Amino acid sequence: MKINLVAPCMLGAEGLVAAELKFIGAENVQSENGRVYFQGDDNILARANICSRYSERILIEMGKFTARTFEELFQNVKKIPWENWIGKKDRFPVKGSSLNSQLSSVPTCQKIIKKAIVERLKSKHKVQWLEETGELFQVQFLMMKNNVSMMIDTSGNGLHKRGYRAVSTDAPIKETLASTMADLSRVHNGDVLVDPFCGSGTVLIESALKALNIAPGKNRDFTCRHWHRIEEKVWKQEQEKALSEEKTNRDFRAFGYDIDSHAIDIAVSNAQKAGLQDIIQFEKRDIRDFTADFEKCKVITNPPYGERLLDIEQAQNLYRIMGEKFLKRQGYSYTIISPDEDFELLFGRKADKRRKLYNGMIKCQVYLYFR
Ligand SMILES: C[S@@+](CC[C@H](N)C(=O)[O-])C[C@H]1O[C@@H](n2cnc3c(N)ncnc32)[C@H](O)[C@@H]1O
Repeated sequence: MKINLVAPCMLGAEGLVAAELKFIGAENVQSENGRVYFQGDDNILARANICSRYSERILIEMGKFTARTFEELFQNVKKIPWENWIGKKDRFPVKGSSLNSQLSSVPTCQKIIKKAIVERLKSKHKVQWLEETGELFQVQFLMMKNNVSMMIDTSGNGLHKRGYRAVSTDAPIKETLASTMADLSRVHNGDVLVDPFCGSGTVLIESALKALNIAPGKNRDFTCRHWHRIEEKVWKQEQEKALSEEKTNRDFRAFGYDIDSHAIDIAVSNAQKAGLQDIIQFEKRDIRDFTADFEKCKVITNPPYGERLLDIEQAQNLYRIMGEKFLKRQGYSYTIISPDEDFELLFGRKADKRRKLYNGMIKCQVYLYFR
């Protein structure tokens, strides 16, 4: 059976998500602001959860309609065939958000939606009472300009939670964003990478996972893993497929530095959990001691912004130091993310390419120097 699916993602990453979904075999892939729609069977649903590097989660799209009144909302939700997924004993909490819509009270929308699903399920399952003790089907709604999307979450924890980052430092970069930076830097097996502000090591760990084609979700759980509707053999097939696609010749080396020894300890432990301790090394080092130690090297980094770490003046001073250290050199490229609009001025060179991306709510640019 073809399932209508949607993968929400970071603004600016829609193209990447669409490409990775097409690559894994998804059909009718279409992107919109912050969301990528696609279709596939149970295997694609499992594969997207296990393999997607850049999307936030995988949702089943149950229905779309317009609603300006609570009555319209109720009637439209009731028309959706929820019974195709939610059994008579299953749990189906409702959550969502409303933006620029007439129905602006999220708690009231939640109650109306719940009531409509309850009525539908009671009638279709021919029961008087829904005990809600079984499998979890988290219902999500999104209202934008009175357009409503009704969805069921299949992932559980966001897909950025790969399972290797138990502890983190003060201002970690999201895993999905780190792997987007790795993609922008065209990281592959055979590379040498350096992150001189490595913090908990996310950028290097995500880069290594990508270079070695290691599925980011291979070690984690998903809500839909517990749905009896998806056969166990599907998960087995997809886990085996992901494992068989991993690169076995690990010709990839990475070096992470940070001024904070506590961050280095965390990075070492995270790399170990990700099974990458043999190819990533971490060491306490100040950016002032940065040297170009390799013939070829990709520097990818997320320096302090002066928001959560340091103040703006100190962060800007680091950008000046980076400009002095990150010299134009054959075989070297630099990929730096920063929200500072004066970054290029402080760094001292115009980037060869720039990409707008959001680090959480912070609007940033990724500055790429590769010429
Ligand atoms: C934004 S955080 C990097 C977070 C990292 N990408 C992660 O995912 O955990 C910036 C890091 O720069 C480090 N730092 C600050 N000043 C530094 C300096 N002078 N030299 C090297 N590292 C420094 C901080 O300790 C912090 O871990």
